[in-house]
Amino acid sequence: MTMSQPDLDAAAPKVELRAVSKRFDSKKHQLSVLDQISIEAAAEEFVSIIGPSGCGKSTMFNIITGLEQPSAGDVLVDGSPVTGHGEHFAYMPQKDLLFPWRRVIDNTTLGLEVQGTNRRDARRRAAPLFETFGLEGFERHYPWQLSGGMRQRAALLRTVVQDRSILLLDEPFGALDSLTRTEMQEWMMGVWEQFRWTVLLITHDIREAIFLSDRVYVLTARPASVRLVVDVELERPRSLNVAREQHFLDLESRLMEALREESRRSQLGELPTVE
Ligand SMILES: Nc1ncnc2c1ncn2[C@@H]1O[C@H](COP(=O)(O)OP(=O)(O)OP(=O)(O)O)[C@@H](O)[C@H]1O
Ligand SMILES: [Mg+2]
Repeated sequence: MTMSQPDLDAAAPKVELRAVSKRFDSKKHQLSVLDQISIEAAAEEFVSIIGPSGCGKSTMFNIITGLEQPSAGDVLVDGSPVTGHGEHFAYMPQKDLLFPWRRVIDNTTLGLEVQGTNRRDARRRAAPLFETFGLEGFERHYPWQLSGGMRQRAALLRTVVQDRSILLLDEPFGALDSLTRTEMQEWMMGVWEQFRWTVLLITHDIREAIFLSDRVYVLTARPASVRLVVDVELERPRSLNVAREQHFLDLESRLMEALREESRRSQLGELPTVE
């Protein structure tokens, strides 16, 4: 956890995208991907982002973490534009693969090792998390010896062990069957209650977004802008039973309608726009 500093703007969101736009320019094509996206999450808030495939969600995370530069707009943490992106964010990219030749424990320490922590200290930090992540006893196994859900939890462990206050998760459960996925959502809820990171989660699953989040953003077809924002007013702690509540069902149909319409638009405009 970062220490609070006197000049910190206490009212500012923990993380904020302010009117972020992005174009990819090559000699022949200009592709406008993000159009003045503004999104925010307060400290300890869980925020989900849904939008049609290819609309620019992963690009947005790459901009937040500094892997890509925005064409316009700012990324702010605690009210100040970020410069050294690495120090604030733990990022689990869409295809976060484990290295097959490294044991599970050595996969989970990878992020720390890349940052310069020696392997012994890195292991010491990762080890206590194995129980929470349902991986106790599998430290010395190889990734192929784990189930799909366990592999995702190992990738998540590798992300959170870096001890950053803001977590960026790009479809962390995307590759799982629906039963495992539901179990992972419940488990995710539990660890979030415990660790209280500020989370931005990209997902295609509307029910997952509602179940986990304080707020859900729906993005438009590319170039993505914010089409709809809804606050999820369901009490915490939540169980899967919240899916029967009227508020849940209302949100689900509003989000579904917005997402369907944008997905339809995105299929109509399948070809890259040349401007
Ligand atoms: N480095 C790049 N150069 C050029 N175009 C890019 C680059 N990265 C992404 N794009 C384009 O930007 C658009 C958005 O891609 P992005 O991966 O952000 O979408 P997404 O919303 O994450 O999609 P999905 O839901 O399928 O993961 C796509 O048309 C993609 O081809
Ligand atoms: Mg993506």
